[in-house]
Amino acid sequence: MHTTIPVSLQHDPVKLILLDQTRLPEEELFLHLDSRDSIYEAIKKLRVRGAPAIGIAAAYGMYVCLAQQSYPSLTAMKLDFAELKQYFASSRPTAVNLFWALQRMQIRFDTVLSNPQARQQDVLLALLDESTAIFEEDQAMSKAIGEHGLTLFDKTKTWGVMTHCNAGGLATSGYGTALAPLYLGHERGYHFSVYSNETRPLLQGSRLTAYELNKGGLDVTILCDNMASLVMKEGKIDAVIVGADRIAANGDAANKIGTSGVAILAKYYNIPFYVAAPSSTFDLKTAHGSDIVIEKRDGEEVVNGFGKRTGPKDVKVYNPAFDVTDASLITAIITEKGRIEHPTTEKVRKHLEMGSV
Ligand code: MRU
Repeated sequence: MHTTIPVSLQHDPVKLILLDQTRLPEEELFLHLDSRDSIYEAIKKLRVRGAPAIGIAAAYGMYVCLAQQSYPSLTAMKLDFAELKQYFASSRPTAVNLFWALQRMQIRFDTVLSNPQARQQDVLLALLDESTAIFEEDQAMSKAIGEHGLTLFDKTKTWGVMTHCNAGGLATSGYGTALAPLYLGHERGYHFSVYSNETRPLLQGSRLTAYELNKGGLDVTILCDNMASLVMKEGKIDAVIVGADRIAANGDAANKIGTSGVAILAKYYNIPFYVAAPSSTFDLKTAHGSDIVIEKRDGEEVVNGFGKRTGPKDVKVYNPAFDVTDASLITAIITEKGRIEHPTTEKVRKHLEMGSV
């Protein structure tokens, strides 16, 4: 069966091309960005969002911005690189893929600079090459995650799958992470009935996940977040699959706010709970989930979202964008290398070195 995966980012030699996800599902508008402020703003305001996509946008954004300048010396270029890297790194704190991608660009930059004969043109070619590699590797990783995730299902029935937020094509350069097994399965004649939690306050579940699955021809039903328990109790859910923004060394996984509640419900109802993420989402320098920095966003997103005031103007609002699901609630983490069943620090380390454990 054919399916369509949305294109969230495009590689162009002079601009960063992004599908503006804040306009979805109503309008498919591509932004052509080439200034540092517009790229920073696009990440900050979630025009491009989802951990892998943020990393790709920042890496490619570095190249696009540097390529426009003519520096008096490589030292001047190095200073500007450092400043720009710090600027993009300050856009969103939780998704580790942002820092991972910027660090890859840094390593590549330093490698070229270690050659005393290097010219600005050599640096730019290397940065273009590195950002292209990050983009293409992400496509391969999401497909591989899909393959490993698909082994959890078969063709004997229609599988009820719940997801939260958006970890699909829009959040990566390819098939997504949590949605990758569903897209691949759909292509191969598996049957899924997907329940997409709306995901307050920015509605990634209804605006983005439902949009892309619907467009891809998959069966998808939107739920308000507070309906998850009932739907699980009704026996409609066989498995939950979500993405992640950062996975600590012990397997604790940060993902969109509300994810940990879904995991607790899944445990109660004895439903397997899977986290799907590439190895670039692991942060081995962070021992436990409690050490992960959680982004706090403007309260207006909660009480004045999408042009409708739903709370008093002067009321206090708490708006953390992510929460952390304890490793103990995770049945397995699915990566491009295979699965980490019931993750622990030891299993995560071994998996990242060797593959499935
Ligand atoms: O705030 P967002 O929309 O960037 O949050 C995204 C998520 O929480 C996704 O589930 C996560 O980044 C995984 S994307 C493959």
